[in-house]
Amino acid sequence: MLPIDLPLKEKTPPEWVQFPLKDFHNFLLDHASCERKAAALAMSFLSKYADKKAVIEPMVCLAREELEHFHEVWRIIAKKGLEVSPYDEKDPYVTKLMADLRHGRDERFLDRLLMSALIEARGYERFLLLAEALEDPELKDFYRHLAEREAGHYMIFLRIARYYFTETEVAENLERMSQLESKAMLETPFSSRLH
Ligand SMILES: [Fe+2]
Ligand SMILES: [Fe+2]
Repeated sequence: MLPIDLPLKEKTPPEWVQFPLKDFHNFLLDHASCERKAAALAMSFLSKYADKKAVIEPMVCLAREELEHFHEVWRIIAKKGLEVSPYDEKDPYVTKLMADLRHGRDERFLDRLLMSALIEARGYERFLLLAEALEDPELKDFYRHLAEREAGHYMIFLRIARYYFTETEVAENLERMSQLESKAMLETPFSSRLH
């Protein structure tokens, strides 16, 4: 049971959590890369939409916070002596979502905000599942605390969307994109990765 009302159409099937648990080292490497990509995504809003004042403040804070998460995961990785690949692997779930973004500056801006909100919501949902399933007390605590900090991230993007677009535009497109997100989530075979 999730403590907050997420904009997700479908819950992650409960068996998902067994995949990261089975290959937790690989999960950590992917998780570090997800945090770095989340920081880069916030940075990309800062450069693509530098003319939009309501974007700057929250995206600077988010980029810093996601980079801090990357740092924390990287420390766990370093402590375990794991080898880090110099390349980020393509994320099939995100690639599927990107393919459905509309063209046109305003349409794409709204879709990027909604896609980011949904990716954040999914990440939060899965960190929480993982925190519940982990047995190692240190890691369990880390993921519980991380989930708490990720919980509000999806709202940051929705707030920006509601600032620049009407309630109807946001609601209609969130409905469309959340259907696409759940479809992409269910179509992506489970692995040790976050998505
Ligand atoms: Fe994060
Ligand atoms: Fe996040």
